[in-house]
Amino acid sequence: MNAIPPGLNAAIQNYLAESRTGSLVEGAARLSERYRQGGHSDSAMDFSAYLVARLPATYAAVAFCLAELTRRYPQFTPQSMLDAGSGPGTGGWAAAEAFPDMPLVTFLDNNKQFLKLAGSLAAQSASPALQQARALNVDISNLPRNISADLVVAAYALAELPVGKAAEAASILWQATRNALLIIEPGTPHGFARIQHARATPMAESAHLIAPCTHMKPCPVLTPDWCHFSVRLARSREHMHAKRATVPFEDEKFSYVIVSRQPVALEGARILARPIETKAETRFKLCTENGLVRQSIARRDKAEYKRARKLEWGDLFE
Ligand SMILES: C[S@@+](CC[C@H](N)C(=O)[O-])C[C@H]1O[C@@H](n2cnc3c(N)ncnc32)[C@H](O)[C@@H]1O
Repeated sequence: MNAIPPGLNAAIQNYLAESRTGSLVEGAARLSERYRQGGHSDSAMDFSAYLVARLPATYAAVAFCLAELTRRYPQFTPQSMLDAGSGPGTGGWAAAEAFPDMPLVTFLDNNKQFLKLAGSLAAQSASPALQQARALNVDISNLPRNISADLVVAAYALAELPVGKAAEAASILWQATRNALLIIEPGTPHGFARIQHARATPMAESAHLIAPCTHMKPCPVLTPDWCHFSVRLARSREHMHAKRATVPFEDEKFSYVIVSRQPVALEGARILARPIETKAETRFKLCTENGLVRQSIARRDKAEYKRARKLEWGDLFE
């Protein structure tokens, strides 16, 4: 199960000890309501509630996608990373874990307070890249042309742009990408639609798909279906308290796309839902170059079945 790194947890605890005011339960409820209604992050928001009740989930989604990036593209050793719409620096922390030798992290956000928070958390990290992270207080739509990085991550940021601006923002982020671009959005039909718009833009500019797509054919996932994934993360005691939760974990649903300037061999099929186990077989929903396919592996096919049972939603079916 996913959890935020101990260094990030310690930095968050320090922030809470110094800055926490008001009820976390109320703060977390207001935050959920704000995002549910398509609201934006702004300086009036409750940063403590974000750190306790939201960041563990967004971190888990970024970590999941970066793990897929390193699996699909093991030669990739980014020297720099741009966390676009960084909020408290979630993407930067996940990238520093995935690429510990990467020397340069830049946080970009149009919200000064969020950027300040990202800087103060990162300063407490053991990673030199995070300790010395640069902060850019600009809007994604006004990204200066001289800003670029080997790896660009935009996690849960396009959702905050005006409707119809996702493609333009993805294009701007793609121009700033020297090698790989990861875009993550909430795992909802709207989130997936923004990923689709984003995907169309870099593809039109000849980006190479890395994940989750395993082919360059048109996406076979059509409305009312949507392509999304799920990652399970541990909830701390505070997190459980803030959300009045009764179980010590939650499942974060997200949609994503990773594209790169280098071609990476596309193979296999992507598992698009939690596999269904019956007495006789395991059933998979797969995205393949021949469209969406249902495939079953019978228990009697012992070797195949043993392999299939280890596969999860989001894995490659090879
Ligand atoms: C939901 S938060 C996500 C934060 C972080 N990426 C994460 O995954 O935890 C969205 C962030 O994007 C920033 N943002 C929204 N619109 C932006 C824009 N047009 N330019 C730059 N940052 C933006 C917000 O200020 C906020 O910090």
